[in-house]
Amino acid sequence: MSNDMDKIFFNEILREYNLIKIKNKKKDNMKKKKLYTRYPEFDELEKKVSEIGLNIAKLVLKKFDMGEIERLKKESQILVEKYNFLLKKIGLSKSYFEVYDCKICHDTGFIDNKKCGCLKKKLVEKYCNMSSLNRILEQENFANFNFKYYKGESLRLIKKAYKSSLSFVKYFGVKFKNLLFYGDTGLGKTFLCNCIANEILNMGKSVLYKTAPELFKMLDEIRFSNYEKNIEQEKIIFDCDLLIIDDLGSEYKTMPLESDLFNIINMRLLNKKPVIISTNVNANELPEFYTQRIISRIYGYYNMFEFVGEDIRMKKKM
Ligand SMILES: Nc1ncnc2c1ncn2[C@@H]1O[C@H](COP(=O)(O)OP(=O)(O)OP(=O)(O)O)[C@@H](O)[C@H]1O
Ligand SMILES: [Mg+2]
Ligand SMILES: [Zn+2]
Repeated sequence: MSNDMDKIFFNEILREYNLIKIKNKKKDNMKKKKLYTRYPEFDELEKKVSEIGLNIAKLVLKKFDMGEIERLKKESQILVEKYNFLLKKIGLSKSYFEVYDCKICHDTGFIDNKKCGCLKKKLVEKYCNMSSLNRILEQENFANFNFKYYKGESLRLIKKAYKSSLSFVKYFGVKFKNLLFYGDTGLGKTFLCNCIANEILNMGKSVLYKTAPELFKMLDEIRFSNYEKNIEQEKIIFDCDLLIIDDLGSEYKTMPLESDLFNIINMRLLNKKPVIISTNVNANELPEFYTQRIISRIYGYYNMFEFVGEDIRMKKKM
C-alpha cells in the first residue's frame, strides 16, 4: 500500500477511532449508571479509587516521599480488586464495561504494531469512496463478466483483454504493466476497468477511478486554488496504486490539459505506478488527438487491447 496514500486517510481514520472511543465511553457510563443505582457500593468504591488517584497525583507534584505514594497505590489496588470481586459476585466480568467495536485491537487499529483487520477494512472503504466506485463494483466484477455478448472476432479479442486483465491483477505490484482499452461504445471497456478496480481495492490498494473530463476538472481546480486539500488531491492522482482514466478523448481539449496528461503519464511511468486508460479513439488515431510525447509513451509502455462488436447496451435493452 502506498505510504503517502495511507497517510492521507490515516488521520481521518484515527479521528474515527476516537469517535468510536467517545461513543463507547458513553455506553460504558450508561451501563455504570444503571448498575450503580442498583448497587451503590460500586459507586462508593469508584469514587474512593479516583480520590486516591487524585491524592497520588498531588503527592507526585509535591515530590512527597515514595513510601506514602506506594501505600496509596496499594490501597487503591485493593479497592479495585474489591470492585471486581463484587462485580463477579453479581455475575458480571471485568470486561462488562469495556465496550469495543473491535475486540481484537480495542479500537486502536493496531495489534503488535501491525495493522488490525478493522483498520485495513477502513482503508479499503476510504479508497472505494475516493474512487466513487463502491456501488458499481457490486455489479461490475469478474464474477459477473459475461462472454455471451461477444462472438467470433469480438469474442477472440475480449478473451485476450480479459486474460491480460486477470494477469494484471495477479501480478499487481510485481510486474509493472499499463493497459489501454480502445474501441467503439458499449463494448465493456469500463466494465473491465471496474473488474480490475474491484480486485485491486480488495487487495487493500488505492485506486483512483476518474473519467477524463472529471480528472482534468480536478486538475483545473487544483491549479486555481492552493488549499492543502488540493495538494492532497494532486498527490492522489500521482501516487495512488492504480489510476484509471476512463473515456480519454471525451474531454474538452485545452493547452494545460495536454501538459497535465503528459505529466501524469510520464511521472507515473517513472515511478512505476500503473495506469489503465479506456478510450473510444482507435489506437492508430490517437496521434491526431495527443502530442507525440504522450503518444510515444503510450505506444511504448501500454499493452493495448481492441474491443469490437455490437453495443452491449443496445443488446441488453432488447
Ligand atoms: N462482459 C460483460 N458482461 C456483462 N455486462 C457487460 C459486459 N460488458 C459490458 N457490459 C454492460 O454493457 C454496458 C456497456 O458496457 P461499458 O460501459 O463497459 O462499455 P464501454 O466500452 O465502456 O462503452 P463507452 O465507450 O460508451 O464508455 C454496461 O451496462 C455494462 O454493464
Ligand atoms: Mg465506458
Ligand atoms: Zn481492530
